Amino acid sequence: MEGLVNIPGRFLNKLHGNKIMLVAGTRPEVIKLASVIQALQDSNMDYIFVWSGQHYDYEMSKIFFEQLGLTDPAIDLNVRSGSHAEQTAKAMLGLEKIMIELKPSLVMAVGDTNTVLATALSAAKTNVPFAHIEAGVRSWDRTMPEEINRIVADSVASILFAPSNYAVINLMHEGKLLKNIYKVGDTAIDTVNKYRGLLRKEGRSLLEELNLNPHEYFLVTIHRQENTDNIENIKNILSAINELSNYYRVVFPMHPRTKKRIKEYHLMDKLSFNKNIILLDPLGYFQFLGLLMYSLTVLTDSGGVQKEALALSIPTVTLRYTTEWIETVILGINSLAGANTKEIIDITLNKAKHYCDIRENVSSYVNKLKSINAGKNIAKILKAILNDSTINPKVDLRKCPYITYAIVDFSEKYLNYCLSLYNENFLATSDIKKAQKMLIKIPYTHILREDPTGKNSNRNITL
Ligand code: UD1
Ligand code: UDP
Repeated sequence: MEGLVNIPGRFLNKLHGNKIMLVAGTRPEVIKLASVIQALQDSNMDYIFVWSGQHYDYEMSKIFFEQLGLTDPAIDLNVRSGSHAEQTAKAMLGLEKIMIELKPSLVMAVGDTNTVLATALSAAKTNVPFAHIEAGVRSWDRTMPEEINRIVADSVASILFAPSNYAVINLMHEGKLLKNIYKVGDTAIDTVNKYRGLLRKEGRSLLEELNLNPHEYFLVTIHRQENTDNIENIKNILSAINELSNYYRVVFPMHPRTKKRIKEYHLMDKLSFNKNIILLDPLGYFQFLGLLMYSLTVLTDSGGVQKEALALSIPTVTLRYTTEWIETVILGINSLAGANTKEIIDITLNKAKHYCDIRENVSSYVNKLKSINAGKNIAKILKAILNDSTINPKVDLRKCPYITYAIVDFSEKYLNYCLSLYNENFLATSDIKKAQKMLIKIPYTHILREDPTGKNSNRNITL
């Protein structure tokens, strides 16, 4: 590993104060960090940006820095492709070394990739507080590598930036302290909101180039391991796409993983000989979202695309059996079709038919999303935490013993330590108005401080 990480000299002294280390390594992570980086810069906060190199093709990495106006990362770990263990281990070796040398005050990453897993574990092992953006998001499908990555990242995180109420509830039910959870909104949606005008322009010019009419084509993205690495699933999905191309043209920018697998399975000809299917290389952000904005319906197994489609009010068919973005399904804009050919065809045609109603139904929710700036919220919270020595994102158990768990009568003073709420029948509830008892995890010293004699310290506590 010696020599793999070359830390530029100018950073060596830079990170000894309150400095943040941001880590990313794949296409969606750049997009989701863009608004955070902007907000850190606007608040004059020092940060260093490290790239794991899990994605490395120009169109999977550098194009996004260029389009979103981000400076190149200070360090590239050059992890590249490999098995889950290879990618995670290589990233950890590099990150551990950087964290030990640069001693950041806090490390932060977004999402659920192997890069995020490696970042969270390296931070935990080097005793640096880890902040996780997109905390609490769950598909409840533990066969997904991303689900495991999310769970591990959240369990070692000191600061949990949750995008939604659902995410907050998930974290509470997993026993995370309320005081470490911040509902900040979704950073991917910040980026959509920032560039709406430009996306429209780019979309129109790409439509002209591809000879497409607005709202008369389906957009497709596929890259999940469960679809690409399972020949039955990918065959079923491609059959559905072929059938759907008899109704509307299909635009399919292909992730490199998908292209590789489709070639290996000898399935490319079926697609490339179909004149109603437009196969493209992965697109830049403005081009892809431009196409998404004018599509009739999007078929995708991507996490990010489901949320962006909601932000742009585009009906969505998710090529999976679960989703971590449950609000999109509850709102009726997104349906899960899995890898079942008939379901995909029927659901997609139904979405296309009800395009206008679906958009109308989500309009008030989508309007609300426009006013949230998750990146700004994150920067503000980090500034307060890093500048306030009384708020320590990492509690040292040797100095602050914990009473671990107790059920206490509901009282506002314990809210910060609340893990879950119970109603009068002792059933778990997420409705604070119905709460009668709560499960808390509280520092021992806090209880003693409330009752210096110690006599009544357990007054409200049923052990
Ligand atoms: C990874 C993430 C996934 C995320 C996706 C975003 C994990 C476990 N998976 O999946 O959560 O949704 O990124 O796109 O972290 N390849 C190239 N060039 C590149 C990158 C990849 O050719 O620049 C090809 C290689 O053949 C590689 C394959 O794509 O083996 C898969 O790449 P990898 O990073 O392992 O996983 P993704 O499918 O991209
Ligand atoms: N995206 C892109 N070009 C493409 C396909 C997707 O810029 O050709 C963007 C998309 O807008 C979203 C992100 O990439 O912001 C999603 O990445 P991906 O689907 O690879 O990963 P996931 O979101 O599933 O983790």
